[in-house]
Amino acid sequence: MDRFYITTPIYYVNATPHLGHAYTTIVADSMARYSRAMGRDTYFLTGTDEHGDKIVQAAEKGGLTPRAYADEISGHFKALWPELQITNDDFIRTTEPRHVRVVQKLLQRIFDQGDIYFGEYGGHYCTGCERFLTEKELADGLCPDHKTAPEYIAEKNYFFRMSKYQQWLLDHIAVNPDFIRPERYRSEVVSMLEMGVLEDLCISRPKSRLTWGIELPFDTDYVCYVWFDALANYLTALDWPDGEKFRRYWPVTQHLVAKDILKPHAVFWPTMLKAAGIEPYRHLNVHGYWLVKETKMSKSLGNVIKPLDMSWKYGLDTFRYFLLREMKFGNDASFSEEALVARRNSDLANDLGNLFNRVLAMCQKYFSGVVPAPSASDEDLKELAANAVANFVRLFGNCQFSQALESLWELVRGLNKHVDSQAPWALFRDGRMDRLADVMYGVLECLRKVAVCLVPVMPHAASEMLAQLGVVGSPALDGEAGAWGLLTPGNQLAASSTLFPRIDPPVQAGAACPGPKKDKAAKPAAATEAGPARTETPCGPGLVEFADFQKLDLRVGVVREVVRHPDADRLLLVQVDLGEEKPRQVVAGLAEFFAPEDLAGRQVVIVANLAPRKLRGYESQGMILVVRTEQGMELLTASGPVASGAKVS
Ligand code: MSP
Repeated sequence: MDRFYITTPIYYVNATPHLGHAYTTIVADSMARYSRAMGRDTYFLTGTDEHGDKIVQAAEKGGLTPRAYADEISGHFKALWPELQITNDDFIRTTEPRHVRVVQKLLQRIFDQGDIYFGEYGGHYCTGCERFLTEKELADGLCPDHKTAPEYIAEKNYFFRMSKYQQWLLDHIAVNPDFIRPERYRSEVVSMLEMGVLEDLCISRPKSRLTWGIELPFDTDYVCYVWFDALANYLTALDWPDGEKFRRYWPVTQHLVAKDILKPHAVFWPTMLKAAGIEPYRHLNVHGYWLVKETKMSKSLGNVIKPLDMSWKYGLDTFRYFLLREMKFGNDASFSEEALVARRNSDLANDLGNLFNRVLAMCQKYFSGVVPAPSASDEDLKELAANAVANFVRLFGNCQFSQALESLWELVRGLNKHVDSQAPWALFRDGRMDRLADVMYGVLECLRKVAVCLVPVMPHAASEMLAQLGVVGSPALDGEAGAWGLLTPGNQLAASSTLFPRIDPPVQAGAACPGPKKDKAAKPAAATEAGPARTETPCGPGLVEFADFQKLDLRVGVVREVVRHPDADRLLLVQVDLGEEKPRQVVAGLAEFFAPEDLAGRQVVIVANLAPRKLRGYESQGMILVVRTEQGMELLTASGPVASGAKVS
């Protein structure tokens, strides 16, 4: 059986997850789902990278120990993935004992065979990159990525003899031209290797400077350099060296990273593996950067896109589709809500959703809602479908996700044209029921193929489509997607489908809600004696701007503990778990309506960003939302199970 091991980078815990992390993880998830649908034995790994200077600094800023800080941020990553329906098999943290053991074993092995030596080194150290930069890498004396001046550090350290493997790596890339893909990154690495002498890699940090790391097994005065530690995670998860998973999933490994960490993955990692006598991984898949208004996302610019906000606002399937369709893998892409809505409306609502709904409605009318039995099939349509699916499968497997979806949409658009040109309504009117059955069967069968191809990209919508076509069981992508005639005549179809209704373009802060149409003759408001002209919102009295509404952070939490306020009869002290490090205390005026035991264990909605204040001597960090009824009070809650801390939107 074919096997497949896919990994994301393990993310630094110095910041909470954003669009960039979500993109890589969603792509990896789509690849894992694709591989499972292709019948491969698949293993999917993600996790967090928790050692090094950066984490120490971020923890200090937050007033926490590195461990407490790492626990908190790693928890955010871990909690996010199920919300984005990520199907990872493992989540690794580099602070786990299993990882410490593997790193030490790997270091010892390379040390024993003579490829680690002790020496002195002075170099330009960039904290952002967590590595020494070579003179050539600097741009005007600055780190080209972080635009900061690196610090010159000279000290005694341990070095990995990376230079020894320069020619081996060049040869390996020559023999395996898709070792690094797409091509532009392969050639970047090849020219980096051809241009100069590969330097040895400093793999230790003296404890006098950094203690937050894995101790070297051969010198307790040093900890391991964070990149050497981090890369080994891909082995830890497989229980290297003797684990059954290692035998099963190595080296059919595909790493997925963005261009920022090309060098560690394309140069450090394969040479480390070679030195340890481990076969190199199969592919390094490198993607570009998501930019927001042509710039990198950054906290200080306030343009960081939060993946959950997008998924809640526009739906997870639409968000996933957009990310895979909009970015040509390897190139940078621009993220905007306008572009996301445009894709949703054109590709999903117009092209696919309308077609699907129309076809179901026709089958309802012409064939009482069941799949008709065909007597012949349309060869052109069959060929169109076979090509589209074959291209989709091939391109997706090569990480050309955007092109794969484009090719699938050739089929979707072709189906729209086919329905228009075959005019089923005219066939029905003319009583040509045999021909009508052929046409409708053909279109339904093609829609089944489209749904099967979409399983890795939009898991929920694809399975809804299949259910609405009366297909049971989980479909395979290989034979089943390509073969013709797998949709069973007589299947009960849904009467209609509203999978992708059109959505309104996003409302921009400031230009918020749709107000009265501007009268051509209306003049702009002028300054009066009473003061400067007010920039009127078009909302009207009593209404709030959408942007103002968005300022509210409403979240679902679980009540962990409730006690009565010792001196205020109306108040309860409620501990609400929002998936944060510890539950929040909310002082709620609910004692008249709820006994403490009525609230314990209940799911509640709270305003999570209400400024904290003291109520009768106890700090309250939020407000529980309730509904007044004639009988008293009801809690506002979610209609189904929701993760603690889930945002209400
Ligand atoms: N900890 C290292 C990786 C060690 S892997 C052995 C690291 N962490 S990181 O948190 O900085 O994550 C970098 C990765 O996050 C990128 O390679 C990419 O996968 C993702 N992205 C972060 N920002 C991104 C964009 N703006 N656009 C696309 N992906 C980006 O580096």
